[in-house]
Amino acid sequence: MSKPTIGIVVGTTRQGRFSEKPAAWIHGIASQRNDLDFEVLDLRDYPLPLFNEAASPAYVPPKNEQAQRWARKLAQLDGLILVTAEYNHGAPAVLKNALDHAYAEFNRKPVAFVGYGGVGAARAVEQLRLVSIELQMAPVRNAVHIGMIEFLGVWQQGKSFDDFPHLAKAATAMLDDLAWWATALKNARAAA
Ligand SMILES: Cc1cc2nc3c(=O)[nH]c(=O)nc-3n(C[C@H](O)[C@H](O)[C@H](O)COP(=O)(O)O)c2cc1C
Repeated sequence: MSKPTIGIVVGTTRQGRFSEKPAAWIHGIASQRNDLDFEVLDLRDYPLPLFNEAASPAYVPPKNEQAQRWARKLAQLDGLILVTAEYNHGAPAVLKNALDHAYAEFNRKPVAFVGYGGVGAARAVEQLRLVSIELQMAPVRNAVHIGMIEFLGVWQQGKSFDDFPHLAKAATAMLDDLAWWATALKNARAAA
């Protein structure tokens, strides 16, 4: 069986966003592994409308063309890393909207989280774990939380993620979890 392919979702789209920096960083670390393949999915490349379909994609396939493109891409993947900010203690609406726009394509796949913000987006990540369970995903235990000092250091003080080695350590733990679950669930989906 081929290696699982994991999508790294850049979870915000606004002008001047920070999200592309942690997404590029985790992609760099992840790409050094030989047990998983990775692909960056930028939500800017999937300009979804605010959800306006007749029913949940769990029951009725979306009519919107961007939603269909998004679902086709998700179908090719064996798991996700959601790179997320925290907007008012929740996930950015654009990321939740993207999760609402597909269903079967998420099912029985693992999901991991890289959060950044005042508390490393811990509150948004915990909410996303609950959302992902409803999408029949398996949220992995270890996550990367880029807290205030690291976030401001990289964003405004000319530091790099490498200046904070505990982040790479957290990334490795998260990717190890993801590799286990992605392989197990890929095999299980193939056998089902
Ligand atoms: C609407 C909004 C709400 C925010 N709420 C929070 C918050 O609850 N917790 C937090 O740590 N940061 C919060 N912030 C600050 C973000 O962490 C910071 O703006 C970050 O850069 C957002 O990610 P982005 O640049 O990828 O959009 C908020 C920012 C915005 C725009």
